[in-house]
Amino acid sequence: MSVLALVPAAGQGLRLAAGMAKALVHLGGVPLVVRAVDGLLASGVVSDVVVAVRHADLELARGLWPDGRVVVVIGGADRSSSVRAALEHGLRRRPDTSTVLVHDAARALTPPALVVRLVDAVAAGLPAVVPVLPLADTVKRVDGSGAVLVTVDRSVLRAVQTPQAFEVSVLRRAYDLADPADHTATDDAGLVERLGEPVHTVLGDPLAFKITTPWDLRVAELLVGAG
Ligand code: CTP
Ligand code: MG
Repeated sequence: MSVLALVPAAGQGLRLAAGMAKALVHLGGVPLVVRAVDGLLASGVVSDVVVAVRHADLELARGLWPDGRVVVVIGGADRSSSVRAALEHGLRRRPDTSTVLVHDAARALTPPALVVRLVDAVAAGLPAVVPVLPLADTVKRVDGSGAVLVTVDRSVLRAVQTPQAFEVSVLRRAYDLADPADHTATDDAGLVERLGEPVHTVLGDPLAFKITTPWDLRVAELLVGAG
């Protein structure tokens, strides 16, 4: 029984606009994907890690983990294709996998304690678990011109983070069922929801925020003391 972590890192990073894949951008001298993987391994509950990167970044990324503890594969054109590639590779390598974590490389500062909470929840019998935070801002629905249609009840809404944790057969069925050409699910739990399987939530962590824009990278630099 082992815990397999998949790290999609094959995005372009268009919103960060650093002129390179976001996962390879340095934060305090360490690439974001290395920080994300270090957080997973530091949890002590992850047995194997598969990282999916762009084809162009394959050699560079393999050089980040010369000891082979972390396997690097080529990702796809969208996030779910990257996760699918990593999942197939990871399960071939570790057929005894019991739990799969999927974690964005861009959530570089995710605390190991959050990883433990998620793995524990699956070990306790939940098929799918995601970390969430309540929304601080008021939320409104608007029309195409930006005019407000309605104020949404934010008390029933949650912002969803990663790692997302799954009992292996549930994630496998979700990806088997998903149409590879359908890009409407923005997270893995979204595919599990389509199976009709329950998805549970645990409290996330502000440090698991996704580094998306230059502002986020600036905040991250300040947080690691590299500001
Ligand atoms: N990702 C991936 N393969 C893709 C697209 C995204 O593995 N084809 C990964 C990213 O590398 C990132 C995570 O999915 O770790 C979340 O995606 P996002 O924050 O949107 O990253 P990018 O797609 O790189 O950024 P952008 O959308 O601004 O281009
Ligand atoms: Mg993207």
